[in-house]
Amino acid sequence: MNENPADLASLNARRLRIADALPPGDAVLLAGAGTPVPLPEESDQTYPFRSHAHYYYLAGHECAGGLLAYDPQAPAAEQWVSFVPAVTEAGQIWEGRTQTPGRPLADFPQWLEARRHRTLVSIGAPIPGVATDAALNSATLEAVRHARRPKDQMEIALARRAIAATAVGFEAIRAHLRPGVTERSLQIELEAGFFRGGGTRTGYSTIVGSGPNSAVLHFEPSSRIVREGEFVLVDAGAELDRYTADVTRTYVAGTPNPFQRDLYQVVLEAEERAIRRCVVGAEWKDIHFAAAHDLTAGLVAMGVLRGEPASLVEQEAHTLFFPHGIGHLVGLGVRDASGRQPGRTRDPRPSLQSLRLDLPLAAGYLVTVEPGIYFIPALLNDAARRSRFAHQVRWELVDQHLALGGVRIEDNVLITPEGPDVLTSAIPKSESCRGL
Ligand code: GLY
Ligand code: MN
Ligand code: MN
Repeated sequence: MNENPADLASLNARRLRIADALPPGDAVLLAGAGTPVPLPEESDQTYPFRSHAHYYYLAGHECAGGLLAYDPQAPAAEQWVSFVPAVTEAGQIWEGRTQTPGRPLADFPQWLEARRHRTLVSIGAPIPGVATDAALNSATLEAVRHARRPKDQMEIALARRAIAATAVGFEAIRAHLRPGVTERSLQIELEAGFFRGGGTRTGYSTIVGSGPNSAVLHFEPSSRIVREGEFVLVDAGAELDRYTADVTRTYVAGTPNPFQRDLYQVVLEAEERAIRRCVVGAEWKDIHFAAAHDLTAGLVAMGVLRGEPASLVEQEAHTLFFPHGIGHLVGLGVRDASGRQPGRTRDPRPSLQSLRLDLPLAAGYLVTVEPGIYFIPALLNDAARRSRFAHQVRWELVDQHLALGGVRIEDNVLITPEGPDVLTSAIPKSESCRGL
């Protein structure tokens, strides 16, 4: 986040919105950024540092060791205090650090001592030596997560820039999507495009899976050489100022066969229908089950499944081929503020275990929509599943395609009062399976 006046005005509006959403009471709110985690071996190296998302959202900057505090009883201008550690000489010499603006972290104990009879809640990284109220922490976290869900203009602008960088990467790989290329070289071209397009890192580990690897949901690219006629699934996003895209496209290197084309078309139509259902007030679980129904109907039409789609979904037969959820919130991190609507409890249905969201959509939410159909040997060779779904699945057809891999298509969709706005629409998908 750049600290220009418009950003600061947005930051203040954001803090007011969070303060309004807090549970009743006058608890002191603390949000720790966290500190770098050393690698387990003896070395001076750490894992890449990222401030806790709630800290980043409210402080507006990365700052290892930073701490944001909010006292609702303080005079208005002193309610929010950003405590920052003093820059060290080593930090200046080795990393070129400069002093982050804010109040010295060394003042925090005294600030806290002046509030020693107050209830404390923590929504960020744990703060050593500070005891907080566990039950209130959990209620506060739920409230903060929920209040963060509608994206403000500054967030939407950052998400759009991350998506624009992501589009540069996806464009860069199109010329390389040919038999003979390796998954790794596609990753290199893709990520180089992200950086050229303005990305500062990847939002998560890039997924490139070819052939059977395209059925591994989070496959790490390998040196495998892509063969003629194989699926290549690419799921990746550029990140910029902590905001990330999360986009999947599936291609065929060379010429797709009719079964691949049909499979692709089923997923594409299910995705486009799911996107159209992304309107204010729509229940995410309903969107998930409607997509499961569409994918199942497609598999019935292809002869892979037998029966009525609604009944097959009721029996959870779709989970053999679509074992994850329809999507999640995205933005400040790839699973940004996902979870349940406050007050809801976990839905125990087995087919919902991987659904990361249970809420009605509201304006300003940024969601991924990502149906997929996969031939996953670990699921499809499982004897218990083969027995349970003996009549619902044409197993001889499944056996022919166990090494085929899978298709996922994923877009990032902003919910608006006028309907779904597909922010990733510039990344082509309908041409992807025509043969490259
Ligand atoms: N990139 C992982 C996912 O789609 O959720
Ligand atoms: Mn993804
Ligand atoms: Mn996703």
